[in-house]
Amino acid sequence: MQVLQIIKVSIFFGIASLLAGCYYDNKTELYPQQTACDTANVSFATFVKPIIDKDCKTCHSGVSPVGIVPLNNHTEIAASAKSGKLYGSVSWANGFKAMPQGGNKWSSCDLLKLKSWINKGAPNN
Ligand code: HEC
Repeated sequence: MQVLQIIKVSIFFGIASLLAGCYYDNKTELYPQQTACDTANVSFATFVKPIIDKDCKTCHSGVSPVGIVPLNNHTEIAASAKSGKLYGSVSWANGFKAMPQGGNKWSSCDLLKLKSWINKGAPNN
């Protein structure tokens, strides 16, 4: 008799948690990055240039500042991107100087967007 009771209770909770499981299985909670971070068509003009102007130009501007790679325009930024140093430094990878120096690391979404732009050949788009 008691065994039957236990089986009934476990079946009840089993079904209840299955239903709850389905209820919470929505896309936004399981894959927040995919819905929040759009890396499909990252543009140099509307994403890469503005974020570098904001976070990097205080130090990386002017005519080839001594010892510091200039990041003023597409040619200079793309050269740094293709050398691997741009992504290495902003992702704080081993062997690179962590950038922005003295500042906060970029969000993971900003890093994904930069990576996506670099993977497409760092175009002037
Ligand atoms: C406060 C000044 C400052 C800011 C802001 C800054 N940098 Fe730098 N950055 C430097 C200096 C100084 C160096 C040279 C470091 C050295 O060689 O010791 C450097 C070096 C680099 C290098 C070469 C790294 C290497 O390992 O060779 C890259 C790439 C770079 N910075 C990118 C950036 C980017 C991208 C940003 C913005 C997200 C940024 N920096 C923001 C000062 C700055």
